[in-house]
Amino acid sequence: MTLGELCRADFPILSRTVNGHPLAYLDSAASSQKPRQVIEAIQRYYERSHANVHRSIHTLGEEATELYEGARDAVCGFIGARSREEVLFTRGTTEAINLVAQLVGRTLRPADEVLVTEMEHHSNLIPWQMACRDHGAVLRAVPVPDGRHLDLDAFRRLLGGRTRIVAVTHVSNVLGTINPVADLVREAHAAGALVLVDGAQAAPHLALDMVALGADFYAFSGHKLLGPTGIGVLYGRKEVLERLEPAWGGGEMIKEVWIDHAQWNDLPWRFEPGTPPIAGAVGLAAAVEYLDKLGMPRVTVHEQELTRRAQDALAAIPGVTVYGPPSGEGRGAVVAFNVEGIHPHDGAAVLDEAGIAVRAGHHCAQPLMKRLGIAGTLRASFSVYNTAAEVERLARAVATLPAQL
Ligand SMILES: Cc1ncc(COP(=O)(O)O)c(C=O)c1O
Repeated sequence: MTLGELCRADFPILSRTVNGHPLAYLDSAASSQKPRQVIEAIQRYYERSHANVHRSIHTLGEEATELYEGARDAVCGFIGARSREEVLFTRGTTEAINLVAQLVGRTLRPADEVLVTEMEHHSNLIPWQMACRDHGAVLRAVPVPDGRHLDLDAFRRLLGGRTRIVAVTHVSNVLGTINPVADLVREAHAAGALVLVDGAQAAPHLALDMVALGADFYAFSGHKLLGPTGIGVLYGRKEVLERLEPAWGGGEMIKEVWIDHAQWNDLPWRFEPGTPPIAGAVGLAAAVEYLDKLGMPRVTVHEQELTRRAQDALAAIPGVTVYGPPSGEGRGAVVAFNVEGIHPHDGAAVLDEAGIAVRAGHHCAQPLMKRLGIAGTLRASFSVYNTAAEVERLARAVATLPAQL
């Protein structure tokens, strides 16, 4: 039995039908489905242990705090961080990147530079546009001239003494390209720049090791990683977090407060003002535990095999263009494609009638769409619960699209 066949039974939603067909959920890059273990952990928390964290000494308050801080330890282990102080909970990747853009943004001076890439999700672009606008800094972008990979020579040319931070995605949510982030970090650090890695499409699929990667910040979302919505993670290197002033104020991020000033709390709470997403953290811990049990290397192999099959099967259909690196090159669990003469939204609607859920549109990556010279694509994306049979179903359905539209 393959991994997909083995773990499908853990995901209650996968047994439903859509438009009279069994559901083939191929949209996990937008948001993954949740195993029973995650759903039950959240339910158990609300039924038995809910209270606010870090403030109540009653039993429920202590249980909730233990669960919340235990989730931090689970995530710390999952991403190979050096210490739990480096793991901050946020509402998601977008919030994590906005937080870094504010923290680092305040250190930018006119003519300083921020380096992004042409393949960024808007989440890793707009916050930097705003930071540059507010502080007079200059935004530069590494091009993707072949529509597949970053131009590394251009990266080296653009990286200079004025570059304060490089913000780059680990895995493209459209192309599936896995960027050589450890190398980029090494070169950026040598040039004196910080590095933020957008891990939204990597954390669910690749074994992570923050120490080996060396990035200063790494952001990802719980809901793409079998966890609930409303929770995300910002990993921050301790030496860097320690020298940054908090961007957001409120309860729990302070040690002592006077009417005109305050003393900040220790890491990581300094960057987590207010009541945190406790149930989200509990669910994320269950998700991380679930993935750990499957084993991330096994998850990667399974998803890359499905992706390769999808890429090959779709590319073999007349009129279909598949985007991203060639088959055989390791890539994230997404395959973006177009069918000649068919608008992606129309294609997705017809696939939905057959019970197949794919995404259509610009995937929040409009600069990349402009580079590719297209308005949008269809996109199939995979998770642990997908099977080769679903990939075959997709390919068969895509082959019939021209006749149906
Ligand atoms: C590469 C990438 N970055 C950031 C995001 C934003 O994630 P969220 O909406 O969970 O904040 C996404 C979501 O699709 C993504 O694919």
